Amino acid sequence: MKAVEVNNVSKKFRVSGREFYALKDVSLHIRDGEIFGLLGPNGSGKTTLINIIIGLLIADEGNVKIFGKDVEKFPEITERLGLVSTDARFHWALSVNDVFSFFGMVYGLERREREKRTAELVNFFGLESVLNRRVDGLSTGEKMRLSFAKALMNNPKILLLDEPTLGLDPSISIKLRKEIKHINREFGTPMLLTSHYMREVEQLADRVAFIYKGRIMDTRNVKGLDLEKYFLKMVKTNED
Ligand SMILES: Nc1ncnc2c1ncn2[C@@H]1O[C@H](COP(=O)(O)OP(=O)(O)OP(=O)(O)O)[C@@H](O)[C@H]1O
Ligand SMILES: [Mg+2]
Repeated sequence: MKAVEVNNVSKKFRVSGREFYALKDVSLHIRDGEIFGLLGPNGSGKTTLINIIIGLLIADEGNVKIFGKDVEKFPEITERLGLVSTDARFHWALSVNDVFSFFGMVYGLERREREKRTAELVNFFGLESVLNRRVDGLSTGEKMRLSFAKALMNNPKILLLDEPTLGLDPSISIKLRKEIKHINREFGTPMLLTSHYMREVEQLADRVAFIYKGRIMDTRNVKGLDLEKYFLKMVKTNED
């Protein structure tokens, strides 16, 4: 079964009285067990698509299915998803520890399980020293690590990674990429990944799609591709 199916999705936004398509007739699918990269210039619709998949935005047309279930008809299916995003915002007054307790409760983990999972994730992401700090005072990288740890708390069946290593220093990026690969290999967790780091996508993704001004222009296997060249070529072809 396909993990994620996006069928003919369109989404319009209105900006200063003018409507435009952020997504136009987008179709793609993520196979069980694969890492699928979504490439495209700034503003091409990648985050909008992720927000529609996770149910934060409603598509104007088309539908999204998670393990065969329509997200609009079965919204609870989105509980299987974990989202890591640069847009992640936590209430400013919460401490890092509060974030873990809060989401642990939201995910329905028993206290002992919550504490065990929190300890594992805090250790892995090196968050010990900021546990009692307020979220609004964290650095970009610390917020990103917290976002990643939170997304893994309920052992999601599918991961949506929207620029997961943006703003991270090289050592934590390397560790995180290894962890992404490890989760994928060990549990077969399918993932949707957006990133502007082409080497990262080459390392991680099995297939990529190229999106331009809200339309999918191409989908292909990554093996053997130089994605930087591919990206530049796709931009040039579509500009012409
Ligand atoms: N809530 C909104 N209201 C109006 N326009 C929006 C909204 N969200 C996104 N857009 C616009 O829709 C388009 C797609 O934005 P989106 O954030 O999906 O791009 P992206 O591919 O994720 O870009 P980036 O690589 O910079 O993250 C952009 O033109 C953006 O300005
Ligand atoms: Mg984006």
